[in-house]
Amino acid sequence: MSDPTRFPEDFLWGAATSAYQVEGSPLADGAGPSIWHRFAHSPGLTAGGETGDVACDHYRRWAEDVALMADLGLNAYRFSLSWSRILPDGRGRVNQAGLDFYSRLVDALLAKNIKPVVTLYHWDLPAGLDDRGGWLNPDISDWFADYARVAFRKLGDRVSMWATLNEPWVVVDGGYLHGALAPGHRNLFEAPRVAHHLLVSHGTAVQAYRAEGPSGRGKIGIVLNIEPKHPATQDPKDQQAVRRADAYMNRQYLEPVLGRPYPAELQEIYGPAWDESFQNEIPRIAQPIDFLGINYYTRGLTRDDPAALPVRTSPVKVPGAVYTETGWEVYPKGLTETLLWVKERAGALPLYVTENGAAFPDPPHLADGRLDDAPRVDYYRGHLRAALEARRQGVDLRGYFAWSLLDNFEWSLGYAKRFGIVHVDFSTQRRTLKASARLYRDVIKSRGGVLAG
Ligand code: BGC
Repeated sequence: MSDPTRFPEDFLWGAATSAYQVEGSPLADGAGPSIWHRFAHSPGLTAGGETGDVACDHYRRWAEDVALMADLGLNAYRFSLSWSRILPDGRGRVNQAGLDFYSRLVDALLAKNIKPVVTLYHWDLPAGLDDRGGWLNPDISDWFADYARVAFRKLGDRVSMWATLNEPWVVVDGGYLHGALAPGHRNLFEAPRVAHHLLVSHGTAVQAYRAEGPSGRGKIGIVLNIEPKHPATQDPKDQQAVRRADAYMNRQYLEPVLGRPYPAELQEIYGPAWDESFQNEIPRIAQPIDFLGINYYTRGLTRDDPAALPVRTSPVKVPGAVYTETGWEVYPKGLTETLLWVKERAGALPLYVTENGAAFPDPPHLADGRLDDAPRVDYYRGHLRAALEARRQGVDLRGYFAWSLLDNFEWSLGYAKRFGIVHVDFSTQRRTLKASARLYRDVIKSRGGVLAG
């Protein structure tokens, strides 16, 4: 019987990043532009016009960053591949130099006993594919599978854990419905179509992996961001609002991946933009997967709001609660709730928390060079306890990844919002461990023992 007050010996302790947010040098060595390169270089679309041109310069400083991970005691690192580094036009010609970059990174991780966990798509679609309609073009599931095969063949002998997509909900809601993220569209009729094409692409990549032979013998899954939706009041209208918000953000993605129909609420939400024939393609989406990655940041206290189209819900602030700099309520209990909720639907599928973390304004460095990010320390303490509690209640949770290893390019919010457990001085690229990184190191070393009390 394992000790319920400790995480198990084989637990994965990781931190996560994504290519465009940390790498910099987006066009180096033959890489092609992505939609994020274009978006960030368009006037007025990111805070202060900031771009990922330099970011954390991880493309050149990866060795230093791997040493940092080893120093923290991480045994896993979740990162994403830049599709347009590998296939500059998104399809066809392969850029060997791009593949070699990831191959070197994987070798360096393995040399330090850090397991590479690779995400194929973290929002940076090759611009050449966007020119052909991007996620709106049904051919994208073939393009994605072709790209995935190139990655599996180069790295699959050493990478044994893959995620197809990171947070398809954000791609759709931010990229195609509200336009705050690349490619910046605002179109109700595109949103459900893009969601469907993302999910079908997930399915084709899983199929491609299974067909690979020796380089496809590891584990493959998908990363979804799940946010428990709670009613603002007991008013039945708010209860109905919760049902819609949950269908839109959570069940729209989770259910088809697990082989169940799209939620009935999508018809109500998208109206004439919903195409019921998507239901016929669930079998293409629902390929058997080996794990589910869950990104958890906050809950959504929700009220009915007929004016807020298309879901007709609005978020509500909780008086007295602590909020992060991105306006998200700090609600650790929601992580336990989320993992239990997913377990109820996904049965025995192993789960990983593939992202969890918070942006807070960091105080200046102390005289001895340390940086005491007390609110982030509290955040991690609370959420790691909540993860342990989920295990105690029977969730097969096998790993946890802090978001993020480094302060980085927070998409349209630029560099001001810092999510790192490691501070990055963007003028010198100097890295400094924050107190949250030191706490995390102690949690890892004690397998959660320091969380007690
Ligand atoms: C994304 C990250 C992002 C983080 C904080 C997640 O939605 O996967 O790329 O930086 O949240 O906003």
